[in-house]
Amino acid sequence: MMENHHKPVLLRESIDFLITGKAGVYFEGTLGFGGHSEEILKRLSPRGILVSTDLDTNAFNFSRKKFEGDRRAKLYNFNYSLVDVIAKIESIEFFDGIFVDLGVSSFQLDNSEAGFSYSADTKLDMRFDEKLKISAADVVNTFEENDLAGIIWKYGEERKSKLIARKICELRKIKKINTTGELKDLVSKVVPERFLRKSLSRIFQALRIYVNSELDTLKSFLNNSVKVLGKGGRIVVISYHSLEDRVVKEFFKYENLKCVCPKDVPVCICNKEQTLKIITRKPVVPANEEIRLNKRARSAKLRAAERI
Ligand SMILES: C[S@@+](CC[C@H](N)C(=O)[O-])C[C@H]1O[C@@H](n2cnc3c(N)ncnc32)[C@H](O)[C@@H]1O
Repeated sequence: MMENHHKPVLLRESIDFLITGKAGVYFEGTLGFGGHSEEILKRLSPRGILVSTDLDTNAFNFSRKKFEGDRRAKLYNFNYSLVDVIAKIESIEFFDGIFVDLGVSSFQLDNSEAGFSYSADTKLDMRFDEKLKISAADVVNTFEENDLAGIIWKYGEERKSKLIARKICELRKIKKINTTGELKDLVSKVVPERFLRKSLSRIFQALRIYVNSELDTLKSFLNNSVKVLGKGGRIVVISYHSLEDRVVKEFFKYENLKCVCPKDVPVCICNKEQTLKIITRKPVVPANEEIRLNKRARSAKLRAAERI
């Protein structure tokens, strides 16, 4: 029996930003174990609707059971970047609010099949969607040294990326790297003990982002969301690392602009339309008490904007 010990992060804050009307139509792209979706449903009247999706089949099946019988909840096992396609399937022209809580759930971190974490020795996989062709093990066992170093640097910002990639390529000639434990042992041969935990987090993050094309997915999601967010509707994003947060921040900043003409142009010629108004000048972060109760919350940043 699957146990859910995932605590939803910034629960009250995120849903306070999201909901502008009790009878509205809302979207969550990261259903997971239904923590945020449950709170959204609690705040909606019987006329409200929540469309929620998760790529992970375990999470989807768990939440389908959880919300069974609530006719307001429409659940999908789709990529959240397909927010516009899902709207079409549901004959929804515009949502009143769109929300994602990025990253991995505590269940995924601890699940022996997923291989998202170095804390347990599990299969090195990291795919949210089992239909994806390339797993983390494929990346470390078959990619060229330069490409491997590039991924670890670009998506993990790990300074020893070249050295780590070299070591991976040396050792995989002797034995394939199939488990998170084997990758961890290998990294511990290159990185001193005092930096090991941080380096491992960065390397695992880099592989996960690459395997799931997380940043490109986030960019398409944001672009598609603007098309199906009704005027006055809110888009709310919780991210867990600086690369994701930067994508959201830059997107909101661009969409918040009325004009992108060079400074020396006397009259506007760009035809840029402002589509969003930023409502969180600075990202909202969890209170100390939430971080004390839930370690996963410590890197969370929430940003919200309103469709105009
Ligand atoms: C942090 S968890 C969400 C937790 C959820 N809000 C809750 O309170 O239970 C992130 C979820 O997003 C899902 N996910 C990641 N990438 C996705 C994608 N591209 N499309 C849909 N779901 C995705 C993961 O499978 C995971 O269940």
